[in-house]
Amino acid sequence: MTRNVASADWHPASWQSREAAQQPTYPDAEKLDRAVAELSRLPPIVTSWEVDALKDLIAKAQQGGAFVLQGGDCAETFYDCASASIVAKLKILLQMSLVMVHGLKKPVVRIGRMAGQYAKPRSADMETRDGQTLPSFRGDLINRIPFTPADRIPDPQLLLRGYERAALTLNFVRSLIDGGFADLHHPENWDLDWVKHSKMADQYHEIVTSISGSLDFLESVSGRQFHQTQRADFYAAHEGLHLLYEQAQTRFLERRNRWYDLTTHYPWIGMRTSQIDGAHVEYFRGIANPMGIKIGPGMTAEWLQDLLHTLNPNNEPGRISLIHRFGAKSIEELLPDMIRAVKATGSPVLWICDPMHGNTESTADGTKTRRFDNIVAELESAFRVHGEMGSYLGGVHLELTGDNVTECTGGARGLTERDLARAYKSTVDPRLNYEQAMEIAMRISGLRRDAG
Ligand code: PEP
Ligand code: CO
Repeated sequence: MTRNVASADWHPASWQSREAAQQPTYPDAEKLDRAVAELSRLPPIVTSWEVDALKDLIAKAQQGGAFVLQGGDCAETFYDCASASIVAKLKILLQMSLVMVHGLKKPVVRIGRMAGQYAKPRSADMETRDGQTLPSFRGDLINRIPFTPADRIPDPQLLLRGYERAALTLNFVRSLIDGGFADLHHPENWDLDWVKHSKMADQYHEIVTSISGSLDFLESVSGRQFHQTQRADFYAAHEGLHLLYEQAQTRFLERRNRWYDLTTHYPWIGMRTSQIDGAHVEYFRGIANPMGIKIGPGMTAEWLQDLLHTLNPNNEPGRISLIHRFGAKSIEELLPDMIRAVKATGSPVLWICDPMHGNTESTADGTKTRRFDNIVAELESAFRVHGEMGSYLGGVHLELTGDNVTECTGGARGLTERDLARAYKSTVDPRLNYEQAMEIAMRISGLRRDAG
């Protein structure tokens, strides 16, 4: 095929000639082929004009004209593809974005780690328990958590179940938003039922009252309703990890003369799959979507420059976001070199801080957690370093939920390790709960500087 504008030697399956890290091994190739063929026939989950609209917004953010709020589960589960949990995630992201619009005085672009965040990289392919060795759990798109051969052996049918759940999720989110759920005139829609007495919720409601006041004022002065222009759009993102899944939904749009990955608006390349000659970089270089690249300790200036050159040879605005996740202890040391390396290329990027993935630790009993103070410290360092180096930190990438979980320690309620067992629900990484997430939003907005 020679139809790709970026390069004549690219097609949606050209990654297959490269080494593909973090892919499951399916025992039955025929069943896998059938599932992938079926996925290729099914309609796309998103459309190219939505994808292009997001790319324009990211281009604006690269110029300092907007801020990106990207958040959701570490791993979405099929079980949580349910009304209450989708609404709770939407509500927390809308509340946070309202606080951020108010504090930052610029548009906030909302991107959920949602509607397809079902595949996870793992440090080991296999897991051994009591003498039995089985494939590691790689996310609901691939296999199931229970430690039995039937559950752990990768099942190609789950690709279809994941596609369906992603479509159901986005369909529900779109309907809510089109129906007025995200209308700034009715932020009361976004209240979470279970949040009763919370300092964060009280502070949030003060902001809502003040925004509603200014909205009413502006509308009466201008004689215009802000309903349409102020509507909150919402975009979906997931790690573009499972390449057969992404390939099957990659479509050539004649009108645009480009290939689009239509499983999601914004796929990203994870830390473990960004090898310059690897399959993921090969796949991503041919798609027109805006894309994230996670960068962390181990990334070098040359490698990063090679990635930018390969993934964005034409310096297209809006195309690349660099999502850095160095950890609170390393960011000040490691981020400046990355910023210098990017500046030297002249390539436009959006800098996004992920203050979660460099700050994961285990408690004495082996529970994965993150300390709120480290998350805040990394975020503050990120703002400081970018400020000092004259680059713009234009977004934040968080693992969070609207539910009342206890997975990260600290925050306004001072959760301790002992609290973790109470409501630890994540299947992979620990997420911020409602109050912790709101506190982050307030701090980003400059509305809250100290704990307490
Ligand atoms: C993630 O975002 O859940 C993840 C695995 O991140 P990273 O690739 O940065 O480790
Ligand atoms: Co994670």
